[in-house]
Amino acid sequence: MPIVFEHVSYDYNYVSPKEKKRGSKQTDGDTNTSAQALRTPQALNDICIEIPDGQFVGIIGHTGSGKSTLIQHINGLLQPTEGRVIVEGLDLAERANRRLVRKHVGIAFQYPEYQLFATTVEEDVSFGPRNLGLDSAEVDRRVRNALERVGLEYDLVAAKSPFHLSGGQQRRVALAGILAMEPKTLVLDEPMAGLDPKGRADTLALVHRLHAEGLTVVMVSHSMEDVAENAERVLVLEHGTIAMDGKPDEVFSHAEELREMGLGIPQATKFQNLLAKKGFEFKEPVHTLDDLANAIALKLGKRTKEEYLAKAAQVSAEQNETAQADPEAQKNFKNYSAFDALTLEAGEVS
Ligand SMILES: Nc1ncnc2c1ncn2[C@@H]1O[C@H](COP(=O)(O)OP(=O)(O)O)[C@@H](O)[C@H]1O
Ligand SMILES: [Mg+2]
Repeated sequence: MPIVFEHVSYDYNYVSPKEKKRGSKQTDGDTNTSAQALRTPQALNDICIEIPDGQFVGIIGHTGSGKSTLIQHINGLLQPTEGRVIVEGLDLAERANRRLVRKHVGIAFQYPEYQLFATTVEEDVSFGPRNLGLDSAEVDRRVRNALERVGLEYDLVAAKSPFHLSGGQQRRVALAGILAMEPKTLVLDEPMAGLDPKGRADTLALVHRLHAEGLTVVMVSHSMEDVAENAERVLVLEHGTIAMDGKPDEVFSHAEELREMGLGIPQATKFQNLLAKKGFEFKEPVHTLDDLANAIALKLGKRTKEEYLAKAAQVSAEQNETAQADPEAQKNFKNYSAFDALTLEAGEVS
């Protein structure tokens, strides 16, 4: 059953009549709140979307555009000031429905590892399933399965304190805790933030795999590449409204509008535009590394797409190696990437 937002607005300053009544007893008056409401615009404004089962939705938007606010409505952590959110046919205005839906919708907040709390990994990952009242054999099965899915070896990590693991491993433990609930929908707020290139690639591959297994994925990301490479649909938020909603090809063809919103386009598209200026034009829009390699191969007829991809992979691997040895060096990667490697190749014609 889909996730449906019907004319959802959300105002952080809104005080419901019920809360007002309660609040006025303690504080006397609400003048402050209404003054604030005048100053701050609504975080979400008349959002209407429907996300069908199994879709991979990428959400992009400038800081403060409402991404985190929107996703917290998907399992009822925030409830609309106006409008309705319906998940699996259940209206999340009802408390009992929220409880049901939370079993199926897993949300990973930004830096989910900050929420690790238990003394062992085992205990942390099993917390959710145990709360579902499952028997210990089932809890154990889920913990083992979840750790395996995130690429951690049960025997190596289960008894360890999560705080003795690396940052990337901690992130995976946190994700395992969500997967142990066996959700149908996975909502991720910047899941790759703060990870090194290898950690980013591993996490993205995990999300990709989970989607391939049938999960609905809603992923907030500031990486246009990650969105272009993975999402089937892109939502662009601006000032709490949906500014664009479409396939990556459609959305990323609006480079100018995106730029006006302070957003970029995938590097592959940038290179396409750059090459076009040099008279090196592709027939099809290019949004991913794969597209770019393919287009260059077709155009030049010198090397195959696979060879170009191998070249790009080699550059990425070198970058990873450098990053492992010297995290500081990561900063320089902005200046040279797998994409550059390909365009250098394409530069042979210009
Ligand atoms: N807890 C909060 N209290 C008040 N305002 C908030 C709170 N969280 C976010 N906001 C405001 O709501 C708007 C949307 O924020 P957010 O959803 O966090 O955007 P994003 O995730 O896209 O950066 C911003 O104007 C932000 O300042
Ligand atoms: Mg946010």
